[in-house]
Amino acid sequence: MNAPSFETPRLRLRPFREDDAVALHRILTQPDMLKFFPRPGGPLLERVEKLVRNQIEQWDTMGYAWWAVELKSTGDLAGWNGLQYLPETRETEVGYLIDRPLWGQGLTTEAARVALRYGFSDLRLPEIIALAHPQNLASRRVMEKLGMKWCGLAEYFGMEMARYILDSASVRAGGAPGNGSAVSARAS
Ligand SMILES: CC(C)(COP(=O)(O)OP(=O)(O)OC[C@H]1O[C@@H](n2cnc3c(N)ncnc32)[C@H](O)[C@@H]1OP(=O)(O)O)[C@@H](O)C(=O)NCCC(=O)NCCS
Repeated sequence: MNAPSFETPRLRLRPFREDDAVALHRILTQPDMLKFFPRPGGPLLERVEKLVRNQIEQWDTMGYAWWAVELKSTGDLAGWNGLQYLPETRETEVGYLIDRPLWGQGLTTEAARVALRYGFSDLRLPEIIALAHPQNLASRRVMEKLGMKWCGLAEYFGMEMARYILDSASVRAGGAPGNGSAVSARAS
């Protein structure tokens, strides 16, 4: 399928392209970037190329995947944000990562609101989960700002993770994810 693109006040969410791999590799190999991931070491470029190809393919096989997130002000790749199907639990997870100099500016929350809105409004998913290493407080804070509800620790990817959930009924009731200033517009 043709993956849709979206814009927020500061960001463009667009499908990954194979030539994003080099910029994404630079982002992923910064100190502490993957500190809370199952494989915390910076990946080799070949692994990042494979990740990018997988994301491109998943739009076709699943109808959703991560978007490449670009800063509108520069056009530079800033990270990823979007939805991922977890076959083992048959859940859909919202996931995100952003270039280190951009941390703490609300950009991830701004982009993740688009992902949640897409999941509930376009894909009609009944619920979306989010997972973080329990000590990844910045990620957990994003989940809270999105209106997701903490539902305890659970094992995923061979690790104990903090699990959050948002269901479509809560979104319909107006709690999330539309609150805040990140009004998204479909760009294509
Ligand atoms: C997690 C991550 C995506 C957050 O991105 P971000 O753009 O900085 O997120 P936002 O600015 O939208 O929100 C971050 C919130 O966490 C808070 N925060 C940051 N560090 C924190 C800490 N150590 N303890 C508590 N809160 C913290 C910020 O103050 C902010 O909350 P606020 O708006 O109430 O002040 C970013 O840190 C990142 O890419 N980390 C590496 C990859 C990663 O861990 N991804 C998530 C995997 S689950």
